[in-house]
Amino acid sequence: DIEGSLRPQSLEDYIGQDKVKERLRIYIEAALIRKEALDHVLLYGPPGLGKTTLSNIIANEMRGNIRITSGPAIERPGDLAAILTNLSEKDVLFIDEIHRLNRTVEEILYPAMEDYALDIIIGKGPSARSIRLDLPKFTLIGATTRAGLLTSPLRDRFGVICKLELYSNQQLTRIVNRSAKLLGVYIDEEGALEIASRSRGTPRVANRLLKRVRDYAQVRADGRITKNVAMEALKLMEIDFLGLDQVDRKMITTIIENFGGGPVGVDTLAASTGEEKNTIEDVYEPYLLQLGFINRTPRGRVVMEKAYRHYHIPFNE
Ligand code: ADE
Repeated sequence: DIEGSLRPQSLEDYIGQDKVKERLRIYIEAALIRKEALDHVLLYGPPGLGKTTLSNIIANEMRGNIRITSGPAIERPGDLAAILTNLSEKDVLFIDEIHRLNRTVEEILYPAMEDYALDIIIGKGPSARSIRLDLPKFTLIGATTRAGLLTSPLRDRFGVICKLELYSNQQLTRIVNRSAKLLGVYIDEEGALEIASRSRGTPRVANRLLKRVRDYAQVRADGRITKNVAMEALKLMEIDFLGLDQVDRKMITTIIENFGGGPVGVDTLAASTGEEKNTIEDVYEPYLLQLGFINRTPRGRVVMEKAYRHYHIPFNE
C-alpha cells in the first residue's frame, strides 16, 4: 500500500500540525515518564489530513501496538468486548468515524475509557447479574470529521482533543518533496509547488496527485516532474489551478444561478447538486471556506466575490 509506505513513522517526520504535535509530544513524554497509558485522544478535522497516520505515530512513540477499526465496523457490543479484551497495556485502539458507533456499543466504551472496565451481563430476567472485568490500560484514539457529531458523554471522556487544520501550500510542498523522494521520482521545486497548491490543503490529495503526475511524466515526458509536466497532467485531470474540480464548480454556480448567490441551506444545496450532504460538509466546504469562496451564515451558505471572479461570473452587490 503506497499510502502506507509514504506515511511518516515518528512525530519528527510528521510535517505540519505544529501545535498538535507540540502538545502530543508533551503528553506522550509525561505518560512515558509516569509509565502510564496516554489519556484517550480525539482527533477531528476534514478527511485526509493524517488522523490515522498520527495514531500510528502515537502508538510507536508510546511503544505500544495499534489496533485499527471503525465505528460502522463494530456492530454489536460483543464485537467491541472482543477487541478490548485482546488489548495489552499501552496499546492504542484507533476507532475511525467514531461518531458512527451505535448506542449499545458506545455504552460499553464509557466504563472502558473511564475505569478500564468491561461490564457484562450474565443471564436473563430476575437472575441476571452484571460482572466487571478489568481491562489493560489502553489509549483510545477516536477520529471524526467534526467533533460536534459525537454525543457529549463520549466527547467528555477524551482527555486530549485535537483539531487538525488544512495544510499550507508550503507544508504540502514539503510533503510532496518527501513523498517524491520515497517514490524515487525526480521533482523540481516548481513542480512540487504546482502539485501542492492544487491539493486542497490535504496531504492525501497531494500524494494522490503526485502519483498521477508521476504516471504522466513517465509516459508523456522523460519521467521527471517539472512545473510544465505537472500543469499538463493536472489539466488532463480537470483540476484547476486552485485544486477545484467539477463538483466545486457545480456547487458555486448552483448557489449563484439558482439561489441568487445565497444564503442557501446545505440540505437544499445537496438536493440541487446531487451530492451527499455529508460529502459537501466534510470534503468540499472546508476548502471552499478556507479559500474564502463561500461563507457560513446562520441562514446558510453564501458565495463570496472571490468565487465570482475565479469563475468569471459578474458580481453585483
Ligand atoms: N504524509 C501524509 N501526511 C503527512 C504529514 N503530515 N507529514 C509527512 N508526510 C505525510
